[in-house]
Amino acid sequence: MQNNTFSTLFVGQNLIKLSYVDSTNNYLKLLTSKSEPLPEGTAIMADNQFAGRGQRESVWQSSPGQNLTFSIYLLPGFIPLTKSFLLNVIVSIGVYDALYPYLGDDLSVKWPNDIYYKHYKIGGILIENAISGIGFKHSIVGIGLNVNQLDFDDAISAKASSLSLILQRNVDLLILFNEICYAIESAYLNVKQGDAESFINKYVEKLYLFNERAMFRQNENIFEGQIVGVSTEGYLQIRLENGNILSCGIKEVEFL
Ligand code: BTN
Repeated sequence: MQNNTFSTLFVGQNLIKLSYVDSTNNYLKLLTSKSEPLPEGTAIMADNQFAGRGQRESVWQSSPGQNLTFSIYLLPGFIPLTKSFLLNVIVSIGVYDALYPYLGDDLSVKWPNDIYYKHYKIGGILIENAISGIGFKHSIVGIGLNVNQLDFDDAISAKASSLSLILQRNVDLLILFNEICYAIESAYLNVKQGDAESFINKYVEKLYLFNERAMFRQNENIFEGQIVGVSTEGYLQIRLENGNILSCGIKEVEFL
């Protein structure tokens, strides 16, 4: 265990840095199963995450030593399970706020929680919740951010970017990690104190393609629509050409 002099109250204060791990989410999950209770905000960061996991059973690739791959342990018992999407909002807006000073207005959150710069993906979030009875037991918030990586695998190179490709300079990983922890903590504490609405509004406003005409696919059906909002349960709301609103769950719609 390493104690940091970060500017946060708890997120990232107990930082465990690993040089090599399969997945920081897996490592943190294992830690939560040990008998000793973990302090909230404990973060696991890896230089080389060799089997990173993404949403929908995808793989998260990250070149060793060049990017941020970390997981944070949270106890969001104040969020009712019916509103669990709020945690996505908190973390997405936290990452957005930390990156905004670097990247400005071309930054967005692609629903549900990809971090985009223009039409390029620069980061992803994988939240894994443990539920007990009627509430959250804990949450493992995994964040992968392309920071100093300049080359990507052919399969993703047309759609991926990094801070250093955008800014044409290297970015200090620990400083950025600290800034992300600070911004997530600040969003988390504000929502905990009852200010969920302004974060949900901001999340919707910052959505990739918000209010723009775009093409989507649902099953075999390709259609045009405009993203107009997100429901409390996290369903993406798309206004169709006939004016109807389509509500889509996470696996139900694809951006084209
Ligand atoms: C996605 O966009 O599909 C989500 C990617 C999440 C990747 C991060 S990297 C740190 C943490 N550990 C993992 O195995 N995954 C998350």
